[in-house]
Amino acid sequence: MEKEEIIEIESKNYLPVFTRNDVVLDYGKGMYLYDINSKKYLDFFAGIAVSILGHGNPDLVKAIHDQALKLIHCSNVFHTEIQARLVRELIKISGLDRVFLSNSGTESVEGAIKIARKFGKKNGGKFKILSCINSFHGRTLGALAITGQLKYQQGYEPLLEGFDFVSFNDCADLQKKFTDEVCAIIIEPIQGEGGIWPASQEFLETAKKLCDKNNALLILDEIQTGLFRTGKTFCWQYYNTKPNILLLAKALGGGLPIGAILCDEHSVSALQKGDHGSTFGGGPLACAAACCVLDFAQKRNLAGNAKEVGDYLVNKLLQLRGEFPFIKEVRGKGLLLGMQLDKYGSEIVKKALEKGLIINCTAGNVLRFMPPLIVKKEDVDEMIKIFKEALA
Ligand SMILES: Cc1ncc(COP(=O)(O)O)c(C=O)c1O
Repeated sequence: MEKEEIIEIESKNYLPVFTRNDVVLDYGKGMYLYDINSKKYLDFFAGIAVSILGHGNPDLVKAIHDQALKLIHCSNVFHTEIQARLVRELIKISGLDRVFLSNSGTESVEGAIKIARKFGKKNGGKFKILSCINSFHGRTLGALAITGQLKYQQGYEPLLEGFDFVSFNDCADLQKKFTDEVCAIIIEPIQGEGGIWPASQEFLETAKKLCDKNNALLILDEIQTGLFRTGKTFCWQYYNTKPNILLLAKALGGGLPIGAILCDEHSVSALQKGDHGSTFGGGPLACAAACCVLDFAQKRNLAGNAKEVGDYLVNKLLQLRGEFPFIKEVRGKGLLLGMQLDKYGSEIVKKALEKGLIINCTAGNVLRFMPPLIVKKEDVDEMIKIFKEALA
């Protein structure tokens, strides 16, 4: 099919819920994506922080291929060795005790809401879950009800009840809203979709202390920050605030859909058989991909690379401020970085795309950089060259 035909079919027939670029991608290799006319794009987006091994990684392709030959699906009615391997590895790297495998980030959030509600019921009938203003936790009804941004909620009322919203990084507001009805709080260590706003040390510490003191659960949504991107395996390790429940997705499958809810024993004490389930969750193919991602990322020290190349990228981005005064600030950790502008960023993203660079804009005026974690300093140099042209 020609590019125009593909775009027309999708525009006419797909639900009109996305704004898409006029680009039809065909294949990828390493740090690059190629469209159907063989135009090359340097990828600093990684499919929204997913493709941490880059594109066409031979180890990942082989892991998926070998597993596809053996078994693609069997449901959780049976055990599989590949799921057991993944569960063991997730427990090892997180230091938590239990795993549930889902298919996406939003499903991990939904599962966490259920676990928190069950926990609260058993512990004095508590039901309220706190979240933060400007957070993002997903698009299903529970996840969007716990997302602290009206734009994702409007039109879907009545929303699920029993949530309250705390001003991000405001410890006084947190203390005030942490009533004895609260069974859990959910926090992103860095608000991603909200514009790359890192949590303060004090805020996360206070949340943890209040949870411990009030027998409530600290849920960290590391769907975007987790798995090596910020320069550590998990972003909470910067803060030393181990959660009761840790939520993952995005990077875990290297592009195959898989999410995970990791819990300590305390938080799952109220659960019984039949309380949760998933037809596809933890399927063999996605588990094989996830095992490969975790193995590759640790052997090649992708967290270390994220830190080193991330610091290099921050410096290069900061240097642009002299030439382009509309750049206000660069924030984030490792390779989850945001550049605050004093104007809308969508035109710059469009220009960059025309020139062969994929970046993204979030929260209207924050350009977001989250390349595959295999990125090298040479790639950053190339990226900066194109980016400067786009800014100009
Ligand atoms: C922090 C966070 N939580 C939840 C989600 C939802 O994940 P998914 O799109 O896989 O459902 C996202 C997606 O961007 C996210 O960044």
